[in-house]
Amino acid sequence: MEKNPFLAKGYASPALFCDREKETEILLSNIQNGLDTTLISPRKLGKTGLILHTFYKISDQKLPFTCIYVDIFATLSLKDFIKTLSEAILAEFPEKTTIGGKFMSLLKGYRPVISYDPTSGMPQVEFNFSSPTEKEYTLKGLFTFLNAQKQHVVLAIDEFQQITEYPETNIEALLRTYTQQMHNISIIYCGSKKSIMAQIFSDAARPFYSSTRQLSLGKIDADKYAAFIREKFRPATVDDEAMDYILDWTRRHTFYTQSLCNEIFAMRPKVVTIAVARKASREILEKETSNFLQIRDLITDQQWRLLIAVAKEQSVQSVTSADFLAKYQIGSATNARRNLESLTDKELLLETITPTERKYSVYNVFLSRWLEVTY
Ligand SMILES: Nc1ncnc2c1ncn2[C@@H]1O[C@H](COP(=O)(O)OP(=O)(O)OP(=O)(O)O)[C@@H](O)[C@H]1O
Ligand SMILES: [Mg+2]
Repeated sequence: MEKNPFLAKGYASPALFCDREKETEILLSNIQNGLDTTLISPRKLGKTGLILHTFYKISDQKLPFTCIYVDIFATLSLKDFIKTLSEAILAEFPEKTTIGGKFMSLLKGYRPVISYDPTSGMPQVEFNFSSPTEKEYTLKGLFTFLNAQKQHVVLAIDEFQQITEYPETNIEALLRTYTQQMHNISIIYCGSKKSIMAQIFSDAARPFYSSTRQLSLGKIDADKYAAFIREKFRPATVDDEAMDYILDWTRRHTFYTQSLCNEIFAMRPKVVTIAVARKASREILEKETSNFLQIRDLITDQQWRLLIAVAKEQSVQSVTSADFLAKYQIGSATNARRNLESLTDKELLLETITPTERKYSVYNVFLSRWLEVTY
């Protein structure tokens, strides 16, 4: 049976990756010109995919860059950060190679406990720092090592906003100091929490102020996405109204569009009709129902009602307008505003700011569709 071409996680190859040509070019150009990049977009729009796609191109075109990817989502301190970075470097330069051997001896100088994951065989590093200075010295050592490589290094740090959760207060200043000295490393700082990323990179009082090029990832162009979807369904055909439905129902938010297409493909239809697309979307919502009910238990009734109201409206500019408050019985304007902030904080609502407006929608597109039809 043919493999499902619609990935709902990870990155496989350019053939399964839609567009992002301009963004890939910008990233490559920044890398080639020694510039650091801040890559920002809402969750699940394709930041990690774009990074891995760019790394694929670098390797495929044999461009002279060594690419290292670290995801710091699960890190809680500078110590975790150092561990994650060390392991990523070890993964890139295996111990058997000359560079890997050198890196291993450098690491051993910091006296970590090194073990090997029994299933993957990948090295795991545990540090025991006795003082903050020792930590900083080690971090500097890692960057200095990367900077000393013959090949220019591209370091992508995914979920970068996580550093603001670390107990250490000088982490931004430290990273900024080290990375600014290293001219042989280009860094991609990637994150989805727009307000935190903006604070880190656009606040004149903070170390990273104006030190990077910003790249905001938007939705994939509708025509390009439609052409991609048609091609991947071949030899099956996709009716025009089914295509409109797919792109509209998922709001062209990459992960949701991919998931719906994946679900449709799994039915192996000869023709993707709107009936088929609707059936697939209903099935997705059915599978998600228990997750959605759990969300309801985590927030107040009034917040839940606000979520339903936003879902029914698709997107809302002013939750405090008298009409909106009365229509959905979501309490006073003050309460609505407070709930809006809380839901945005919890990433249940997505705030979209353009030069002319500020609007809110339910962050998880499937939850939005489910609320719309359930209430
Ligand atoms: N250009 C693309 N073409 C096809 N599928 C894509 C594309 N970009 C991303 N995807 C798919 O969409 C999903 C979400 O992408 P990805 O994980 O890159 O988003 P993200 O912005 O990094 O999300 P998060 O903020 O949660 O880390 C993944 O399943 C990925 O395979
Ligand atoms: Mg990601």
